[in-house]
Amino acid sequence: MGEQNRETFGSRMGFIFAAAGSAVGLGNIWRFPYLVGMYGGAAFLLIYVLFILIIGIVCFIAEVSLGRYTKQSNVGAFKAIKPSWAPVGLIGIIAGFMILSFYSVVGGWTIYYFFRAIVGFGFADPSASANLFGGFISHPLYPVLLHALFMGITIWIVYKGVQDGIEKYSNIMMPALFVVIIILAIRSLTLPGGEAGLAFYLKPDFSKLTGESLLAALGQVFFSLSLGMGSILTYGSYLNKQENIPFVSTVVPIMDTLVAFLAGLVIFPAVFAYGFEPGQGGGLAFVTLPAVFSEMPAGNIFGAAFFFLLFLAALTSAISLLEPVVAYMIEEHAWERKKATLIMGAIIFTVGIAASLSNGIWSGFTLAGKNFFDFLDYVSGNILLPVSGMLTAIFVAWVWGSKNALKEATNDGTINFSWGNLWANVLIKYVAPILIAIVFLSSVGIVKF
Ligand code: PHE
Repeated sequence: MGEQNRETFGSRMGFIFAAAGSAVGLGNIWRFPYLVGMYGGAAFLLIYVLFILIIGIVCFIAEVSLGRYTKQSNVGAFKAIKPSWAPVGLIGIIAGFMILSFYSVVGGWTIYYFFRAIVGFGFADPSASANLFGGFISHPLYPVLLHALFMGITIWIVYKGVQDGIEKYSNIMMPALFVVIIILAIRSLTLPGGEAGLAFYLKPDFSKLTGESLLAALGQVFFSLSLGMGSILTYGSYLNKQENIPFVSTVVPIMDTLVAFLAGLVIFPAVFAYGFEPGQGGGLAFVTLPAVFSEMPAGNIFGAAFFFLLFLAALTSAISLLEPVVAYMIEEHAWERKKATLIMGAIIFTVGIAASLSNGIWSGFTLAGKNFFDFLDYVSGNILLPVSGMLTAIFVAWVWGSKNALKEATNDGTINFSWGNLWANVLIKYVAPILIAIVFLSSVGIVKF
């Protein structure tokens, strides 16, 4: 199926780096810690890891297999097997739209913080960090300009296509990011007063778990693994027929989870050591880290390195958010890549302006009690991704058929996939869709624990 001259990745490492580049991003370092802080600390962490294992990896394999088999991106992949399911692909496209519009705003923040780190944060008092953050994100102009810059770079790379663009830029930054996070974790863990943060992060208190926090954990699994909106499916469609899907689909989620876990080790000891509030929401990483850099020898070098790497991590994820939207316009509406990238990028940018302003001059405008920025974050992450992830699992298991999917995942049975039968007969068929449904219904109050 699919056209003969479709682009592919140059190598297995190319796919792993691109998929890891998609997965590892602001979701790991900015979104994950703030959700842990808001929704129960260690109990949330535990549920998150559990969901990664029994839902995340399972759905990851399904998306890669579906993409590679159909050689189509999100909507086309469903259509190729059963046209009436195309709307499921569209949910993903809409989610991608919404996510990228606020994601790019946060990407812009990383640029500002990079330059601010070079100058040196030098806070005498940690509360100065909170003031800097609050002042910056509510400014009517600067964050919007940096959002424009971030979105412009994303558009430029996607415009250049798969191998020259996506693969090349994804190959460089992962190891570097890893090293810097480990150094920061050591600094944070040795701060006086950090133990309370470690306990908050690692000692579970299950009384803090609610339906809503389960949903947030589930949504974060999809968000962090880039599932439920076609990023991984589309990257799967560029994967070679010889590659080992079960292997790459396990390695990437493990890497992603490790980075998120380390980010928590950096942030929580510092939150408690400096007397910040763990439940403060989206400012958590941006408020806490500069306070750590202020107290580190060579803090401006580490700070600048960190925010630069965070910027790159955000960029490789942003590319993977734009690519399915562009691929959709190319495949389903016969647009040229150039036109699709520019026009879709411009629309997303425009929505992002509203998201940025909603942290400042437009904060009076709320939807469901949230400003526009938080609304986009919540609806796309907690509702659209799990719903489309659940429908994708059902589609792969029951419409395409999990036997057929297993055949694709194992290259016609030539690859060793030790838990392949468990995956095909139990996990993708029952466990993943039913669990997602239960969590979803419990969070909206229909099912009670
Ligand atoms: N996984 C990315 C992150 O954690 C965000 C993302 C979500 C990318 C969905 C693509 C699709 O930052």
